[in-house]
Amino acid sequence: MAEKRHSLTKEEKDFIKTVYRHYEASGRHDLPWRKTTDPYRILISEIMLQQTQVTRVEPKYKEFLKLFPTAKRLANAPLGDVLRAWQGLGYNRRAKYLWQVAQVVSNEKKGVWPKTFTELKSLPGVGEYTAGAVMNFAYNQPVPLIETNIRTVYIHHFFQDREGVLDKELLAIIERTLDVSNPREWNWALMDYGSYLKETVGNLNKKSKTYQKQSAFKTSNRYVRGAILRELSKQSFTNVNISKRFSGIENERVKAQLQLLCEEGLVLRVGKTYQLP
Ligand code: ADE
Repeated sequence: MAEKRHSLTKEEKDFIKTVYRHYEASGRHDLPWRKTTDPYRILISEIMLQQTQVTRVEPKYKEFLKLFPTAKRLANAPLGDVLRAWQGLGYNRRAKYLWQVAQVVSNEKKGVWPKTFTELKSLPGVGEYTAGAVMNFAYNQPVPLIETNIRTVYIHHFFQDREGVLDKELLAIIERTLDVSNPREWNWALMDYGSYLKETVGNLNKKSKTYQKQSAFKTSNRYVRGAILRELSKQSFTNVNISKRFSGIENERVKAQLQLLCEEGLVLRVGKTYQLP
């Protein structure tokens, strides 16, 4: 049950029961990343699950771990192999961050994973949510988590008649109701209940001030970047054959994104040829 440090209101107690009841009856108990406490595996799943649907992540997660079963194996692989394994997930910067984390842990930390929220958060590409997720799902440590499904749950139960809800407001009630005796399962239960609510009552995140839809502009640059990396995972190309390879996208847009991808180290330019690193 929830923590004993303060007494819960009847509403809060009922809420906790509702969440757990849903979890027992219809929780997603078979997700592969819920069968491990290995921080490496948890981190991969959480990074993949940012902005990508569970059903698309599941097969990719399994394939990725077959190729890179340990942080050391990932750290020693060429970035190009990692990007190739990432194909289909989008937001390729995430793959590079993961690869960098594997290097930090394998080399600087001699294979020992950080155990604290602060240390986790200092890893490349690891933000507040991801560090908190590793604390909960790998170490079963109670750190309040906020992400889209969890937002939906708390808005549905505690902020029905409000607009412009701040994460700060959500956090207060998330902390009060956090089950410190089993944070791992509590947060899984919240996510599953949130995902169910989204299917039934719809996405309530529009009431949240923090939540923002990706703009059309961002989406389309992401599309160009994806197309470039997909092409490069098949074969390299030069400036001269850009228009043939990317019919339907203006040359200038391809070139601009190529330039950025090179700056980010996701694409390598060797003479006139672009290739995966
Ligand atoms: N289980 C653990 N983390 C998850 C996430 N981010 N989304 C869905 N299920 C999860």
